[in-house]
Amino acid sequence: MKILGLSAGTLNGANDSLCKEALMAAKEAGAEIEFINIMKLDLKHCTGCKACVMGLFSGKGNACVLKDDMQWLIDKMLDADGIIYAAPIFEKCGPGLHHTLMDRFGPRMDRGNLMIAQKIAEENGGKPIDPRYLKEKVISFMGIGGSDWATRIQCDFATLALTPKWTVIDNQLFPWSLSIIMNDEAVAKAHQMGIDLAAAAKKIADGTFVPGHGIINEDYKGPAGVCPYCHSKNFYLEENGTAICCLCGTEGVMKFEDGKYVFEFDAEKWIPHAHDSISGKFIHGDDIMRNEGESRELMATDEAKARKQKYRDFIAPSKP
Ligand SMILES: Cc1cc2nc3c(=O)[nH]c(=O)nc-3n(C[C@H](O)[C@H](O)[C@H](O)COP(=O)(O)O)c2cc1C
Repeated sequence: MKILGLSAGTLNGANDSLCKEALMAAKEAGAEIEFINIMKLDLKHCTGCKACVMGLFSGKGNACVLKDDMQWLIDKMLDADGIIYAAPIFEKCGPGLHHTLMDRFGPRMDRGNLMIAQKIAEENGGKPIDPRYLKEKVISFMGIGGSDWATRIQCDFATLALTPKWTVIDNQLFPWSLSIIMNDEAVAKAHQMGIDLAAAAKKIADGTFVPGHGIINEDYKGPAGVCPYCHSKNFYLEENGTAICCLCGTEGVMKFEDGKYVFEFDAEKWIPHAHDSISGKFIHGDDIMRNEGESRELMATDEAKARKQKYRDFIAPSKP
């Protein structure tokens, strides 16, 4: 059983330390461990070229055109049964590096896309998808903040797991963390996260892991959240009373009953659409495919070409 620790903090800072505390626990539980500080890697921003999507849907695999350390990092992640992921909280959410990672996961790590690409490759004799991309994996997140401004970090973290449909075991906040290694309660919590992650990863290594719905299953040890489906606490509130879960996309109404928020939604209607589920990913994939086709047709018209030219001719971007 392999556990990989990833930290996006400064070298030997609070993130590295709590990540290593969890790794120590995983090692005690019998895991083979490895640690990477992802700040030390060359990770470029996604340019939005969509070459990975074209590759996926034309049976040519899911390669990225950018030449940097991303594939090395992905290979390390794919070889692990479980990942402990520590990242500093920047502006209440994940740091830019976390968002770069999410973008670089984007279409090429999406489990739904990979399943479709695998089918295309099988039917048309294309390049088969590396089976490691389709393997179950467990992940635990540590959001480490210098203060208590932290309202979007857990949703940001779970969004990273949503793309490859890795199962979230824990998703904890560590506020006021600059001297966190002197806080025995926090250190014990990080240690416990390592124990819980290793227990779930062992099931993957043994072949006994049963994935739950979406990104959550019965091994989940994180906070209960407000969305009863994905445990997110982040909601987009429409003026008309509709509340949309920012993580799984489920729509319903938010009520305040007996001293707590209760998110009510039509499970039969919305669970098949949940953004972290395979069915939800397929629905989203179909919507995108339909839109791509319609947009391609519209953009091939003379009127669209003329409008595009108008913007191209108006002004060129400044450069340093
Ligand atoms: C640009 C920037 C933005 C930050 N924003 C927040 C924030 O919104 N909330 C918070 O709790 N801490 C914030 N911090 C503090 C960091 O989370 C803290 O410095 C980090 O967790 C330290 O981790 P390290 O010791 O592993 O480097 C911010 C720090 C920086 C540099």
